[in-house]
Amino acid sequence: MRVIQVKDYQEMSDVAADFLAGQIFHKPHSVLGLATGGTPEGTYKSFIQKARHKELPLSELTTFNLDEYEGLSPEHPNSYHMYMNEHLFQPLELSSTQTYLPKGDAENVEKEARRYEQMIQDHGGIDLQLLGIGENGHIGFNEPGTSFTSRTHVEHLKPTTREANARYFEKKEDVPERAITMGIATIMDSRSIILLASGDRKKQAVKKLVEEVRKEEFPASSLKIHPYVTIIADEAALSAVSTNTWTEPENESLIRWTADKKEWEIG
Ligand code: GLP
Repeated sequence: MRVIQVKDYQEMSDVAADFLAGQIFHKPHSVLGLATGGTPEGTYKSFIQKARHKELPLSELTTFNLDEYEGLSPEHPNSYHMYMNEHLFQPLELSSTQTYLPKGDAENVEKEARRYEQMIQDHGGIDLQLLGIGENGHIGFNEPGTSFTSRTHVEHLKPTTREANARYFEKKEDVPERAITMGIATIMDSRSIILLASGDRKKQAVKKLVEEVRKEEFPASSLKIHPYVTIIADEAALSAVSTNTWTEPENESLIRWTADKKEWEIG
């Protein structure tokens, strides 16, 4: 894992948008894995500007989102379909035949999860996966305890996750209890991964991710053995990580603070 430290949310968003733009520039027929939540909103905003400015070729691009709430139709204002339409797909005029999310309102969500997993495989897998991180370490909607061998599946959301996401819903009780999410193994199959973290709220999760061992109780730690993971985190999100030290969270990885480069090197 490599960690790029940035000043704030805006810089995180700009750096992440550069990664996305670079990926598409070098491979216009890329398959991108996309995330939702407050964290990537700025990235999408910045990416839209860059894509327009640099006239990035987007017609061959395919996107797969990480997850969707059970029971919410694509038209539901709190669905991740709606979020993606508003924040990325409509502004860039990406068509529905190149942008995929699990269907939360499918009659049989287990079957839908298997179909979605197969569709990702049929497209040759994900080139670049964008991730946020939950305060409890979840990625996508893979909650603590999810098997590292999991594929796209239906997940029960933890009360803390429902609470954290309640800010987008009218009432706390409206947050669905389950969601369809790519599994940990699905995410780990991505050729490269960017994980974004911003703000004080994420500092304990980032500390655990960087400093602790790989365990299923902390889903994001699965990433520690992936060969191409970049964490882009701002000063607040990195503020709990011990600096200027070499630590050995696992035999296979070392962390070194390189203050001049504003970058952590791990491994
Ligand atoms: C949700 C999403 C995750 C996201 C997380 C953090 O649970 N399923 O993909 O990373 O929230 O959200 P935020 O970026 O709003 O803190």
